Amino acid sequence: MNRINIAVDGFSSCGKSTLAKQLAAHLGYTYIDSGAMYRAVALFVLENGLVREGRLDREGLLDRLDEIDIRFQHDVLSGRSATYLNGRNVESSIRGMEVSRHVTLVSPVPEVRAKLVKLQQALGSERGVVMDGRDIGTVVFPDAEVKLYMTARPEVRAQRRYHELKAKGVEVDYASVLENINRRDEDDTTRAADPLIKAPEAVEIDNSDITPQEQFQRALDVVLDVLARVGQE
Ligand code: DC
Repeated sequence: MNRINIAVDGFSSCGKSTLAKQLAAHLGYTYIDSGAMYRAVALFVLENGLVREGRLDREGLLDRLDEIDIRFQHDVLSGRSATYLNGRNVESSIRGMEVSRHVTLVSPVPEVRAKLVKLQQALGSERGVVMDGRDIGTVVFPDAEVKLYMTARPEVRAQRRYHELKAKGVEVDYASVLENINRRDEDDTTRAADPLIKAPEAVEIDNSDITPQEQFQRALDVVLDVLARVGQE
């Protein structure tokens, strides 16, 4: 059967990764979290003194961009795929609030985007990939056979993220999670380079009031429809 690429775009904490992982597992495809790559770059600048008083040393980052090696590898301890930055498993450090707060310093930098988009396109070149992010259907895989665009109300997303962080033992308050989500929405949609926009052909799913199972079923129906068509070509 012909394999396809599936782009899952949308705002932060919209359940994109839950859906993308479910689809990948169901189809036997590879799931790729493009946001993890931007988070890894944010961790690099934080760890290397390239953020001072909340400002990015852009020239410093550009000078060292070639030093940044990001990969996804199987982690023996967790039994899952994890994000590696220069050979080190950074899966848990890139999920904390410190990185979340600083990721929009690096995500608008065109040179960072060019580097990561190239890597993402290489990962999808054989097809059979489900990738989630902001610009997957518009920039990374404009030819993706399926494009999904996820939305949910900011308050619903903040609640989910808050519970997720709490469950991981992270000390946070709901107000700062909501504030972070609102600020990232603003940054993601207004940046000049590859802003979050819905591709005209993308299917929009608002999951504010539906269960992950219902969401999965809706998305799967879209995918199976396309697969049936592609299989006949
Ligand atoms: O999906 P996430 O919240 O883990 O993404 C982290 C940040 O990376 C988010 O604020 C926007 C940015 N990002 C992006 O600019 N382009 C992508 N394809 C994925 C994420």
